[in-house]
Amino acid sequence: MPVSIAVFASGTGSNARRIMQHFQHSDAVQVRLVVSNKADAGVLEIARDMGVETLVINRTEFYHSETIVEELRRRDIRFIALAGFLWLIPEYLVQAFPRAIVNIHPALLPKFGGKGMYGAHVHEAVKQAGETESGITIHYVDEHYDEGQPVFQARCPVLPTDTATDIARRVLELEHRHFPLVIEQLLLNLPVVG
Ligand code: GAR
Repeated sequence: MPVSIAVFASGTGSNARRIMQHFQHSDAVQVRLVVSNKADAGVLEIARDMGVETLVINRTEFYHSETIVEELRRRDIRFIALAGFLWLIPEYLVQAFPRAIVNIHPALLPKFGGKGMYGAHVHEAVKQAGETESGITIHYVDEHYDEGQPVFQARCPVLPTDTATDIARRVLELEHRHFPLVIEQLLLNLPVVG
């Protein structure tokens, strides 16, 4: 029986798509559920097209009840990948899935992380700071934004002529290349090498 996982996402869902594609024919891992906090998120359409069940959550339920844990348990979900999911994960959910929730962040944490640091804001900040490199961080999730233990990083150059959009494109490529593989390695207890 494959291990069932869930992907949480708030937006376009290009990482979620890659993850679903990667495991589409896997005997070991099945993306069983895509969860979003936005009813019109692109990721939901991608999931439906790929035959993956979707669930839209609302803020009150997420922060003031634990129904999401029941929903996940009912589907035997063992692992959660946050792929552009912009809500803070509440403590009860972290505790229900110890070392079983990972997030991808589009920069080299601990730099450029924390509340409000998502998507284009991150790449603008990297540009403003005059960094010569950026990259991705995949990390376990705790109840603070971007603070859990790092699992994997990959780097890319930032050129003086780069716009934030150029940086975003290069970083997204790294995300697509590494995130599904790192998830697979964690689930199969393999060394994480991206
Ligand atoms: C990704 O770049 C991800 O790293 C970022 O949102 C994007 C989602 O893109 N997440 C954060 O900034 C979290 N702090 P996608 O919807 O195309 O996968």
